[in-house]
Amino acid sequence: MPDADTVPAAAAPAPANKSRGRNTRVSEAKARLAANTILYVDGVTVAFDGFRALNELSLFIEKGELRTIIGPNGAGKTTMMDVVTGKTRPDKGDVLFDEGSVDLTRLDEAAIANLGIGRKFQKPTVFEHLTVFENLELALKTDRRILATLLFRLGAAQARRIDETMGLIGLGDRRSARAGTLSHGQKQWLEIGMLLMQEPQLLLLDEPVAGMTDHETEATAEMLLDIARERSVIVVEHDMEFVRRLGAKVTVLHEGSVLAEGSIDYVQNDARVIEVYLGR
Ligand SMILES: Nc1ncnc2c1ncn2[C@@H]1O[C@H](COP(=O)(O)OP(=O)(O)OP(=O)(O)O)[C@@H](O)[C@H]1O
Ligand SMILES: [Mg+2]
Repeated sequence: MPDADTVPAAAAPAPANKSRGRNTRVSEAKARLAANTILYVDGVTVAFDGFRALNELSLFIEKGELRTIIGPNGAGKTTMMDVVTGKTRPDKGDVLFDEGSVDLTRLDEAAIANLGIGRKFQKPTVFEHLTVFENLELALKTDRRILATLLFRLGAAQARRIDETMGLIGLGDRRSARAGTLSHGQKQWLEIGMLLMQEPQLLLLDEPVAGMTDHETEATAEMLLDIARERSVIVVEHDMEFVRRLGAKVTVLHEGSVLAEGSIDYVQNDARVIEVYLGR
């Protein structure tokens, strides 16, 4: 993989970090607390017309961790992702990235994406008239550093990365298929593949298996376990079989705060979790 030919998307955060202004620096004390965390969310509140979608939310994700987030409708799961990706500004609280080195609340969505935080919304957004390969190629070219885009040409290393990604997302034999002809699940995988082309350090997935067949859901679980070997992944899901299959630490959100956190067996047996979510 470390080929001279490779567009160093993963290396992009380094210069961004070095050149970041005083604004994005955080106190040494907070950085110490955030050691070994990729994402540090502490005391975050977001209110819409007085209603607290997030209420003193605190959540810490370690480097390389796979974390599942569950909770009833309206618990604040998507809002949490909106805050991390800069779509929504918190009214108060800390949101720090990469061992506390970057204050995400000071950055806009494009800058946050450039740091290496990829996000997938529920609805797949692929280019239907392009092939699987072309969609991935396009995602590779969407390097937001202008110089890299101007100088870009698809070298052997990039082509290999596209091939690897096609394998990872289970579309190796659909290389020349137009995205519009894929099943709903395959489109979701393709979009995950497009995010991977940007080599994110942290990947946020909002209900990735909604609308998938059982077979596609199972394949997605395997895929995410693979993907999570090289990066941190946060998955929001309602499908408890899928959550169990991931075998990751589970955080239960309720009314904008963490209600419980632990293994799937632990949270499934928690009386409060059963009352507000699982027992419905
Ligand atoms: N832009 C907004 N303006 C007003 N209210 C909002 C806005 N975004 C979210 N909310 C409210 O905040 C609460 C949390 O919503 P959010 O979408 O984060 O929930 P969720 O946990 O993702 O739920 P679901 O499981 O249904 O996707 C909801 O009551 C929602 O109506
Ligand atoms: Mg949601």
